[in-house]
Amino acid sequence: MNWLVVFSNLQETSPGARIYVRLVECVRSALDSGLLNAGDKLPTNRELSTFLKVDRSTVARAYLELARLGLIDSQVGRGTYVTSPAKVSQAPWQYSRVAQGVTDDASKVNWNAKYSRYVDGLSGLISRLPQFGGDDSISFAGGIPAQDFYPSAEFKKIVRSILDGERGDRMFDYSPFNGEPELRQSVIDHLAGKGMSVKADELLILSGSQQGIDLVANLLIDPGDAVIIEEPTYFWAISNFRARQAKLIGCHHDEEGINLSQVENALRRQAPKFLYVMPNNQNPTGLTMSLNRRKALVELCARYNTPILEDDYSGDLCYEGEPLPSLHSLSQRQDLVIYQGTFSKALCPGVRLGWLAGPAAVMEKLSFAKRTSDLATNSMAQVILNEFLQRGLYQEHLSRVNAIYRRRRDAMVAALEKEFKAFPEVGFIKPKGGLFLWLSLPTGLSNRDFLNFARQEKVVFSPGDLCFSEADGLNYLRLCFIQNDEATTADGIARLAQAYNKYTDYLSASASGLGNQSPRTTDHVLI
Ligand SMILES: Cc1ncc(COP(=O)(O)O)c(C=O)c1O
Repeated sequence: MNWLVVFSNLQETSPGARIYVRLVECVRSALDSGLLNAGDKLPTNRELSTFLKVDRSTVARAYLELARLGLIDSQVGRGTYVTSPAKVSQAPWQYSRVAQGVTDDASKVNWNAKYSRYVDGLSGLISRLPQFGGDDSISFAGGIPAQDFYPSAEFKKIVRSILDGERGDRMFDYSPFNGEPELRQSVIDHLAGKGMSVKADELLILSGSQQGIDLVANLLIDPGDAVIIEEPTYFWAISNFRARQAKLIGCHHDEEGINLSQVENALRRQAPKFLYVMPNNQNPTGLTMSLNRRKALVELCARYNTPILEDDYSGDLCYEGEPLPSLHSLSQRQDLVIYQGTFSKALCPGVRLGWLAGPAAVMEKLSFAKRTSDLATNSMAQVILNEFLQRGLYQEHLSRVNAIYRRRRDAMVAALEKEFKAFPEVGFIKPKGGLFLWLSLPTGLSNRDFLNFARQEKVVFSPGDLCFSEADGLNYLRLCFIQNDEATTADGIARLAQAYNKYTDYLSASASGLGNQSPRTTDHVLI
């Protein structure tokens, strides 16, 4: 069977319905007509989305649905195959009816028929997220600071003193649209301490820096627009850009940072709207871009007049040497870089405060986008956080957590060197700051399969493929090293090595036909 024949009928299938619905129908009718049979291999997500010129998440959603109907089976490393066509006639297929506006129950809202295309973009990605929690596993997954060091005692004192003071009531007003003036000044001062010069009309306080990604995407991305990203990059930035149907152009890293010839290629050929990059402690690789690479990247983007969204989500968590200058401060031009930061990682995520700093005219547009989204940022959080900054407590907090997190990073590095000594094929780069360490397994191994073995040993991590825009990265894992103390980290890494040993034993046994039992797979990975 040539799948090109199956999918070339797409235009005629269920005209007017959503593309993923038509994809499902295409496969169903090919099964009915005998064009597809059990055992036939279907194209990869990438092949089919390229062929049809549709977003990968649309194909992923269709494949997810076909798998749910029992018509196909996707297995990591093997591909996607048709299962028994006998199941076709019995398989209930709700979505095509949903797309025509028909529901089973006239007394219920037919939500599936109402969702926007934005949701199409989200669904494929969400199907890739593993479920964690609810047990006593050691977790290196997620990306939050250690809760033990949240400054709750200091916050308590500050809240009391503000409420007892004369101006306590201002916490209950709407904040000015671009943020509380005192906090804006404190952030400007904080940035000046990093060598950055930001004027009042160049700063916007955010409800967390995820909002910065969302606002910039709102401002710049129309469906089909190209955006350059690092490959891999932050999962929720990929999801945001994807949901807006951006065309993502991934550029890989070397040890100095993003690959400039790939960036230049993309700048020259794809007319991207902007480049999204994390020079400090890149999420997920933990890499810090060298000074030379920063300068060259700024110069390159300036040459092509392409803006940069610089995400400095964890620059204040620095364990080695002096922090390097931001792209924002390296740029000779005022119009090139939008810089965003957050208090979520270095302080606590619950405060939900971050900022954007960029060209005044662009910030004005962004502030309208922000008002359209949430009118104003939480006043209470801003007033309290400003007092925390004014009392010099943020710098104290940073000195404290940087010392603790440095020890935790060193503990993870030492444990990896010890426990994985027998597995030199497993590699990592020691991060200079931040939260994450990026572990690479040999190509061909699957982090999802490894995760099943790790779960048996009661340790979990984030699968690295989540951070790739392409169907790639299955042999990587992201480990968050700041959450656990040194002893727990040592224990967790020993469990991880034990799991790796069992996983590779299982692979050797399967290759030699001896057939050890693999742990039950709980994650269904489509992309
Ligand atoms: C790279 C990166 N950018 C932005 C954010 C958003 O953080 P927040 O909205 O809490 O400021 C995160 C959170 O994990 C992140 O990892």
